[in-house]
Amino acid sequence: MIEEIRVVADDARSRLEAASSLEDLRALESELVGKKGSLAGFKRAMGTLDPDQRAEVGRALNAASAEVAAALVARRRQLEHAQRRGRLEDERLDLTEVRAGRDAGHLHLVTAAIEELEDTFVGLGFRVAEGPEVEDDWHNFTALNFGEHHPARDMQDTFFVDLGAPREVVLRTHTSPVQVRVMEDQPPPIYSVMPGRVYRNEAADATHLAVFHQLECLVVDRDINFGHLAGTIDMFIRAFFGEGYSTRLRPSYFPFTEPSAEFDVRRPDGSWLELGGCGMVHPNVLTNCGIDPEEWSGFAFGFGLDRLAATRHGVGDLRDLLSTDIRVLEQF
Ligand code: FA5
Repeated sequence: MIEEIRVVADDARSRLEAASSLEDLRALESELVGKKGSLAGFKRAMGTLDPDQRAEVGRALNAASAEVAAALVARRRQLEHAQRRGRLEDERLDLTEVRAGRDAGHLHLVTAAIEELEDTFVGLGFRVAEGPEVEDDWHNFTALNFGEHHPARDMQDTFFVDLGAPREVVLRTHTSPVQVRVMEDQPPPIYSVMPGRVYRNEAADATHLAVFHQLECLVVDRDINFGHLAGTIDMFIRAFFGEGYSTRLRPSYFPFTEPSAEFDVRRPDGSWLELGGCGMVHPNVLTNCGIDPEEWSGFAFGFGLDRLAATRHGVGDLRDLLSTDIRVLEQF
């Protein structure tokens, strides 16, 4: 009987191992395992054996039942795993390669603006630099001539990061800290642009977001003057928007530039958009970055990329730039 048990158990095991779906496995389970299973007959037959034989056959039967049960569990696990993998594969969305040779999908308007502006400035001999979005107080404020209790720190509603000393680590409120990093890292002459994401604790409305993008431009060389600044701004606005757009400067205040101005873009319909701030790099900032202000001078400007992209594409509300609605996205 022990030999017969072996044959039945081996057969049950190989049939379970060959099951090709969970459904097949369930059918085999009720046929082969449990009270009505193929081994159950031996249990009933054991009653006819003498006690010694009964104990031996009982052990063989228990071992065979355990093997069949284990084969069932193992095969179920394999089939479930394969089923899950198949489902994940079916549900996989390929979000890569949306550009080359495909007619669906395009870059986000802000990303496209960044790439185009980088090309414009690189064509003029500028280099592209980047800095961290989580900044320290030195780069975001202090090196930029914001005194410790200077009210100008309140001009930019800051998100503080709970790291280090209180108010020491911030989400950068503008791209100007990258100016500091560039000047700390390399000697003049410097011709750099620095695009990136910035953060301010502000309520979102049609012209404000709490997370937005700026592009910073920094030039440090000998004999740089305000005319170079105004000319560069006018040049890139015309290059980006085309003819029909022009710029104006209005006196303003930033602790890191002197004199300072704000610059606006005039749209073809005659309306003005405030786009950014600019000025001659303050001598204190040059000194803070190890550059001699007697020998070198520079200009800097920084502006909002979300506003720039929205204006270019006639998007009236910056919040629409964050839309995931395909009907909005397909318009561009
Ligand atoms: C600055 O951030 C200065 N760092 C700019 C600068 C650079 C001045 C270099 C001098 C030299 P301001 O806070 O004004 O300045 O912001 C610049 C531009 O960012 C604004 O003109 C606007 O276009 C954009 N901006 C500011 N806040 C928001 C916001 N909440 N949402 C969208 N765009 C914004």
